[in-house]
Amino acid sequence: MYEKDGIIFRKMDFKDINGVVKIESRSFSLPWSTAMFNEELNNPIAFYIVAVIEQEIVGYAGMWLIIDEAHITNIAVDPKHRRRNIASTMVRLLIEKAREMNLKAMTLEVRTGNFEAIELYKRFGFKTEGLRKGYYREDGEDALIMWLLLES
Ligand SMILES: CC(C)(COP(=O)(O)OP(=O)(O)OC[C@H]1O[C@@H](n2cnc3c(N)ncnc32)[C@H](O)[C@@H]1OP(=O)(O)O)[C@@H](O)C(=O)NCCC(=O)NCCS
Repeated sequence: MYEKDGIIFRKMDFKDINGVVKIESRSFSLPWSTAMFNEELNNPIAFYIVAVIEQEIVGYAGMWLIIDEAHITNIAVDPKHRRRNIASTMVRLLIEKAREMNLKAMTLEVRTGNFEAIELYKRFGFKTEGLRKGYYREDGEDALIMWLLLES
């Protein structure tokens, strides 16, 4: 657990899912459902954290730990609480966890038009290494594949 400026960052629990799903529906055109988050919390390779202000979930982020790599699956912050470094703190905590586990690299996919998220990842040294054409089936948008090497 980590606390900064009254915001608590901790591991996600089943009781957090309602709050997480609310943020999901405010953040994505095809939000993940309650059932999907239940599955994620039962998935032994998944690691999810939440950001909490006065018992309210205001953000979440997660990754899958696959052999020696971490795949960031998703990250979102409640629109009311954006631009307060909440996503940055969560990305930093995921990177710290990956380093603690001696993983070699972290990767993620992001919509080519998602300027905010691309800026956020670049800030932590993620670099664009590839493109998946039409990755988002609902509208055919391409995904950038970004990587961060952890060795060094
Ligand atoms: C992307 C997202 C998670 C960022 O959350 P956040 O808590 O507002 O991010 P932070 O406050 O930590 O911002 C970190 C940096 O990202 C960049 N950034 C974030 N939002 C931005 C915006 N609206 N415009 C420009 N840059 C932005 C900036 O470089 C920012 O640093 P700065 O505030 O010092 O300029 C949030 O906008 C969100 O939930 N979006 C919808 C869900 C989503 O697209 N998730 C990513 C899926 S891959």
